[in-house]
Amino acid sequence: MTVPIGERGLGPLPGHLTVGEESIELPSVPATAGSDGLAISSLLAKTGKVTVDPGFMNTAACTSDITFIDGAQGVLRYRGYPIEQLAASSSFLEVAYLLIHGDLPTHHQLDEFVERIDRHMYLPEDFREILSIQPRASHPMAMLGVAIHTMACFYPESMDPLNPAAVDLATVLLLAKMPTMISYIHRRAAGYALLYPRRGEGYVHNFARMTFARPGEAADLPDALAEALDTLLILHADHEQNCSTSTVRLVGSAQANLYASIAAGVAALSGPLHGGANEAVLEMLARIRDSGRDVPSFMTKVKDKQDGAKLMGFGHRVYKNYDPRAAIVKRSADKVLAALGVRDELLDIAREVETIALADDYFIERKLYPNVDFYTGIIYRAMGFPSSMFTPLFAFGRLPGWIAQWREMMTDPTTRIGRPRQVYVGHAKRDFIPWEDR
Ligand code: SDX
Repeated sequence: MTVPIGERGLGPLPGHLTVGEESIELPSVPATAGSDGLAISSLLAKTGKVTVDPGFMNTAACTSDITFIDGAQGVLRYRGYPIEQLAASSSFLEVAYLLIHGDLPTHHQLDEFVERIDRHMYLPEDFREILSIQPRASHPMAMLGVAIHTMACFYPESMDPLNPAAVDLATVLLLAKMPTMISYIHRRAAGYALLYPRRGEGYVHNFARMTFARPGEAADLPDALAEALDTLLILHADHEQNCSTSTVRLVGSAQANLYASIAAGVAALSGPLHGGANEAVLEMLARIRDSGRDVPSFMTKVKDKQDGAKLMGFGHRVYKNYDPRAAIVKRSADKVLAALGVRDELLDIAREVETIALADDYFIERKLYPNVDFYTGIIYRAMGFPSSMFTPLFAFGRLPGWIAQWREMMTDPTTRIGRPRQVYVGHAKRDFIPWEDR
């Protein structure tokens, strides 16, 4: 097994596993930070056994040098850079470049990247038409999945997953058109005309205007809000092998094109236990408000697991400490509400929920802390987004991470088509029963 971290100088040692009479060595897969791996690829051949690990809580699907999380310490780094530094000093498109290409860009590289994206923000009229005929009440994540899949219909020259130039083009087209698509989805639901991007207006400012402008009115987010939105996108940009990223990798492992893989990630993210939680947090806080703001009674319901009640925006598969993103979002919420000059009762309720939870043994024992979703919805709402748009905004931020992880998988020589095994617990062989004997 691996050498305790304090004695890492010896390097990780292989594992040994004895199954019945058979003893096999499990070669070590050394990590530069966090847990080393034990390679089990010979397990089935040598022992006839498979591992069982629901939710992959102990199983690494790959090696990766993109994002590192230390759940116990509440650490998150993109390509080695701490999230706190990137949130304070970088921009979303610079972070997208870092995640996808592996290093911070030079001025020239970033200018070229931003200009290429700026040039491609438009969507063809027929594409707009496809979004315009969707029912107004369509769920925005269903609409987003349609839009991402439709990219393959309009840009077939960027579909080949094994052609680097095609992958680079698909990368730029997705990053460029995601804000336009999301603004259309919002306006379609609201019954407003779809607006066009403007060259040179800036990625986030373009998105804000296309989303919020009313016919005949200029519209933009005040700089403080545009900066807050850019920071929120950075915080969501990647998070190692979460549910939606693992989905993107699995679909891509069959050599499906980038659009099909990202659309699958959008579908996974829509789940309320994953990206749908930010919307569920607002609904939870509103329910507490509408029930007379009795936070203690609500917390009791959660602890008693009444009707499966969960504290949405709390808990995490990896973080057993405060999600570093949640701390940054919480500070940003104060700034945004001050910039808007508004008070939000739901923010006060969120703070009260957090204060109670962090002092309650039920949550402390289970290491349940606020995650990235706990405060984000309050900011998005203050900016004017309806709660139905919160998860598409999560997808907007996560897009560069999905792309980076898919590209890493596609170029990894050890990549095989993802095909997990199972432990069969059904009937033994039995013969067909003709009608007359049933
Ligand atoms: C995201 O993986 C990622 O990186 C995801 C993400 C990303 O950036 O991609 O960080 C984004 O998805 C954040 C998580 C958003 N989801 C929510 O906020 C929904 C609420 N949280 C939970 O559903 C839950 O915490 C999960 C799904 C996030 C994690 O679940 P696990 O790791 O499978 O934990 P578990 O369900 O096994 O819970 C362990 C215990 C259980 O209690 P006991 O059975 O031991 O008594 O903790 C309890 C659970 O009941 N518990 C909660 C709880 N989360 C876990 N109890 C109340 N409220 C909660 N939120």
